[in-house]
Amino acid sequence: MIKPVLRAVIFDLDGVLTDTAHYHYLAWKRLADSLGIAFDEAANEHLKGIDRMGSLNLILGERAKQYSDAEKLALADDKNRHYQQLIAGITPADLLPGALDALHSVQAAGLKIGLASVSKNAKAVVERLGIMALFDDIVDAATIAKGKPDPEIFLAAAAHMQVVPTECLGVEDAIAGVRAIKAAGMTVLGIGDPAVLREADRVIAGLHQFDLVDYLY
Ligand code: BG6
Ligand code: MG
Repeated sequence: MIKPVLRAVIFDLDGVLTDTAHYHYLAWKRLADSLGIAFDEAANEHLKGIDRMGSLNLILGERAKQYSDAEKLALADDKNRHYQQLIAGITPADLLPGALDALHSVQAAGLKIGLASVSKNAKAVVERLGIMALFDDIVDAATIAKGKPDPEIFLAAAAHMQVVPTECLGVEDAIAGVRAIKAAGMTVLGIGDPAVLREADRVIAGLHQFDLVDYLY
């Protein structure tokens, strides 16, 4: 089978370009502790890539039924306020090792660069990281109906950049995100632990190990 050429790379943000995945964890952990709900890094793994209310429902589990929609919104707002305090000090120095080089290598190769994040804080984080100008397209929670693992967000990024999905590489640290990229018909590069991201086509520990040549067919 002849593989299509690579025309675009679509990056997730939290946990791929910067370590905000850890800040999401800290903010959820404080909320879970205040509610007396057990929550640890392993439980957090299943929240990665999941939108705010979806994450809250997963943390509440069986107890979700005990809260009204308004109460749940207040809990989610509380988490978000804490999260926003944690990300307030982000600067370009918070780009993960290799992230800027990876973006520059994609740009230098003449490929499109997309961002697909279900975070409503994504644009603020990208702005603080100083990398806004590198993206041809940014899709965040504001314009999509379904979050990851639905492929919508990755398909939207590809469509905006006028690239067919099979010509895209998606880069993700979350199980839900890996599934979304797969479902979109794109090649998946997982960032993290191969035992966790088993469904990815390839897994590297971080973008410091990214070499575009590995994906140019
Ligand atoms: C994703 C994170 O990028 O954004 C999730 O992986 C987070 O952990 C989600 O819940 C939504 O973020 P926000 O900033 O809209 O609460
Ligand atoms: Mg992520």
